[in-house]
Amino acid sequence: MKKEIFLLLTVTLLLFGCSKQEESKKEVKTEKKVQIDIDKLKEEYLKLNTTEYIEKYIQKVIKNGSKGHGFLEEMPGNIVDEKTAKLISYYVVELTGRKSTHPKEAKTSQIFYTSNCGSCHGENGKGIKNSAPDLTKKHYLGIEDRRKEIERLLKK
Ligand code: HEC
Repeated sequence: MKKEIFLLLTVTLLLFGCSKQEESKKEVKTEKKVQIDIDKLKEEYLKLNTTEYIEKYIQKVIKNGSKGHGFLEEMPGNIVDEKTAKLISYYVVELTGRKSTHPKEAKTSQIFYTSNCGSCHGENGKGIKNSAPDLTKKHYLGIEDRRKEIERLLKK
């Protein structure tokens, strides 16, 4: 009987030891991940005002839609296919006074903007009060939100 208790105790201790080891491995892993994320956030923060970032943001909004900025309605997602979304983003980014990364396409894509976005954001992109945001302003609402979020995460 004594022998059995001893055996049980040994096994329990062994198992306990193993699980402790696993835990400390996990800790190292999450620490590393957080480190990488901070570097990524810093990198993203520096890019927030670049043409490329804004074009990607516009493409993302066209794909996923937009909500939560205090307008009367949400913007629905999946308005156009990915290729057209890219073309439109090159046109729209120039409304902010920037030069697109694809200036040629920017010139020829106005028609896609007019037919898919103009009804809400206006022919000139200036938006409609309370209904759709102004796309000609330098700083987009969603990107400013992201800026604030990163600042909070990095405790700037
Ligand atoms: C049915 C009306 C409607 C259509 C069509 C529409 N939008 Fe929007 N869009 C909105 C509204 C409303 C918002 C703001 C919603 C919110 O986030 O509160 C918005 C937000 C946006 C934003 C984010 C602006 C910011 O300041 O962050 C972008 C960019 C945008 N739209 C681009 C487009 C483009 C490009 C198209 C055409 C492919 C398009 N929209 C079509 C209504 C529309």
